[in-house]
Amino acid sequence: MITNFKDSEQLLINASTIIPLGTQTFSKSYTQFPRGASPFYIERGEGPYVWDIDNNKYIDMINSLASITLGYADPFINQAISNQLAKGTIFSLASPLEYELSKKLVQHIPCAEMVRFGKNGSDATSAAIRLARAFTQKSHILVCGYHGWHDWYITTTTKDAGVPIEVNQLTSTFRYNDLNSLISNFEKQKGKVAAVIMEPMNIHFPEAGYLQAVKNICHENDAVLIFDETVTGFRYGLGGAQEYFDVTPDLATFGKGLANGMPLSAVVGKREIMTLFEDIFCSFTFGGETLSIAAAIAVINQLEKENILAKISNTGDYLINRVKLLVDKYQLTDHLRTSGHPSWSFILFCNPDPDINNSLKTLFIQETIKRGLLTLGSHNLTAAHDRSIIDTVLSIYDEVFGVLSRAVNSRNISSYLTVEPLKPLFNIRNND
Ligand SMILES: Cc1ncc(COP(=O)(O)O)c(C=O)c1O
Repeated sequence: MITNFKDSEQLLINASTIIPLGTQTFSKSYTQFPRGASPFYIERGEGPYVWDIDNNKYIDMINSLASITLGYADPFINQAISNQLAKGTIFSLASPLEYELSKKLVQHIPCAEMVRFGKNGSDATSAAIRLARAFTQKSHILVCGYHGWHDWYITTTTKDAGVPIEVNQLTSTFRYNDLNSLISNFEKQKGKVAAVIMEPMNIHFPEAGYLQAVKNICHENDAVLIFDETVTGFRYGLGGAQEYFDVTPDLATFGKGLANGMPLSAVVGKREIMTLFEDIFCSFTFGGETLSIAAAIAVINQLEKENILAKISNTGDYLINRVKLLVDKYQLTDHLRTSGHPSWSFILFCNPDPDINNSLKTLFIQETIKRGLLTLGSHNLTAAHDRSIIDTVLSIYDEVFGVLSRAVNSRNISSYLTVEPLKPLFNIRNND
């Protein structure tokens, strides 16, 4: 059992004096991992494993917030990065790699006729929004899902400190798989909606015809449809969720797994909209940084050569079906549910009482980490997570669900916790 987090704890204390939160990313901070029962700093990764700074080894199911798809330190991708490193990371003019990668995106992604790169997913979603506003000469945005840290989006969440109230008037949210929610937003903002941006799928599969109906409604209202494929891209398939569900949006954004953890994102889409980038200011120093682009080309070469994404999906099916059986075995169906696509699946904490949910989720994290598994309840699978890794994960769940079941039956979950219960950051995707 892993119980020593001494170096992580000390570094968190030290780092917090000069780094707010002790890290750059909310989802990697002590707001999401229980202090006293989890690591906070990772030293290295290889394949499906990471080692924290106390030298504890974990199977990682978070995979750097789903940005790793082939596994950590993949030798083929590392080689591509190091070949490019020897030539230079960035230059005073564009590199030919930009064209090479763009051709691959145009080849594989149904809506992609032209391409522009960014670094984070938020760069791409924000650029797509600016593009849609310029194209339609309208301002209002309808959102569904998570789309990054910029004002236009984060204003719709509870983490909106520092965002001018005026910005809030330009974005509204609609519910997934609920066409009336979309239609009523269009009616409320009649003639003003520039774009609908949505994750084509996150927790729930789209109902039959839903995505196509969204597209039709957008076009009836002269609004641009943007699929945010930051997670689903290069995960559901080489052509993303738009290919998987056979609905082609006007624009789409990619990030995360595009370059197996190197910082790269992209906006792609219809030529008549994308050419506006000739004029719209979307321009930054590191836009064409070559290591990430070389990594992305190598990732796509790998995905083209071997049927890796189908294998990930099969492994994910095996995992989530057995997790479901374990939920039944331990009679936890009032508390836990499984959901999502096999390559990006979820254990949802579904008790109507948020205090019970928070305590149970904290206990789940406490107990999985103890047994060498790093997860926040999602399974962001990679090619390195083979059947034997998944069997280890399942045997850990077998034990942990046993603990959860005893805690629930005792009606005193907190007596099983060695730490304070966590509070959710915000509940964006859990929209039911
Ligand atoms: C669907 C989606 N869109 C956009 C983003 C923002 O990407 P980034 O954090 O790289 O800016 C994320 C990040 O989690 C995401 O999941």
